[in-house]
Amino acid sequence: MEYLTIDKVELKDKTVFLRADLNTTIKNNKPVCSPRIVEHAKTIAQLALKEAKVVILAHQGRKGDKDFTSLAEHAKILDREVKKINKKLRVEFVADICGEKAIEKIKTLESGQILLLENTRFLDCETEYEKTNKCELIDKLEPFCDVFVLDALSVAHRAHASVVGFKKPIKVAGPVLERELSALQKFNEQDRPVVLILGGAKIKDSTGILKYWLENNKADYILIGGLFAVVALKAMGKKIKQKIEGEEEIGQTLKELIEKHFAKIILPEDVVIKTKAKTKVVDVEKEIEQEIYDIGPKTAKKFSHIIAKAKKIIFNGPMGVYEKKGFEKGTKKVLEAITKSKAFSLVGGGNSADAIEKLKLKKEKFGYISLSGKAFIEYLTSGTLVGIEYLKGK
Ligand code: 3PG
Repeated sequence: MEYLTIDKVELKDKTVFLRADLNTTIKNNKPVCSPRIVEHAKTIAQLALKEAKVVILAHQGRKGDKDFTSLAEHAKILDREVKKINKKLRVEFVADICGEKAIEKIKTLESGQILLLENTRFLDCETEYEKTNKCELIDKLEPFCDVFVLDALSVAHRAHASVVGFKKPIKVAGPVLERELSALQKFNEQDRPVVLILGGAKIKDSTGILKYWLENNKADYILIGGLFAVVALKAMGKKIKQKIEGEEEIGQTLKELIEKHFAKIILPEDVVIKTKAKTKVVDVEKEIEQEIYDIGPKTAKKFSHIIAKAKKIIFNGPMGVYEKKGFEKGTKKVLEAITKSKAFSLVGGGNSADAIEKLKLKKEKFGYISLSGKAFIEYLTSGTLVGIEYLKGK
């Protein structure tokens, strides 16, 4: 390994800043506990039990999004999770990132204590750091940070202040990040054909991935579902009324890619829409006025046949709104096809892990279920991430 890990560093009595990814679904104004939170809680407990003074940096949502909120409730979940490991552990929260209140708390932390700071994205300079290389979070907190642990692969693709900003402390890869990276390395060692399944709602990220994987001949088949499929179908001139934010920006690129690589890209032939209280399967050649909620049965069958021939599979984002009854079938069929195949499968992104849980599929039938969203696929795309290079000191 080209970076340090927590077992290689003296942590006792040190102030250790941990970048975790607590970003989760917000339901009824409250965060839902997720596999990510549970896994980071294990790292946090491990650090506290090594008698470090633990300061956690994390975000929730993005400015302008509905799920952009405080981490006060996340602290309660984390507190519950660390107590499951050791009853004496406690997670405190301060509603401040790098102001006087936060600094006062950090200064008075004792060994074995844990403090969660407020949502780092409440500071604009956190995300703007990728362009400016400047943020008060770094200027104000760096003097207190002895060791910086990047535990989340899921944020390692963002050159944000709290991910790559600290210069002086010892930089270390956390156990969650380490585990994710070794699964990705295992994936890279498998043979072809490679089937990439792109779904979910992050249409801009997906377009970038699609372009790179096609131009660099990384995938043999790319199956497109989710909101991404709706944008792709519209780009190909299908008469779909549904409006999607950001579609104009990527439409032309998508059209060119699909036309050039038509043998590799498989788009839905049929979709499921909602009409009054019912679900309805519609051919994509028809005019579609309603919102598309899932891929149709013909498409799911076609995708399953292709999956059966694969040696390695990536599932990146659900095929539809699997949380809503009647619109889960496409995602379920595709995931079931993966469980039946002999290929090494990697699952991650856009609530994929949650879909496996909700649809009651056997986790052990998948090669590896990543905690990361687009980060894991970006890693497979470019072979590294800005956060990994940062840990290597490059
Ligand atoms: C995620 O949920 O994938 C990570 O927390 C990164 O979130 P972002 O895409 O808003 O940067």
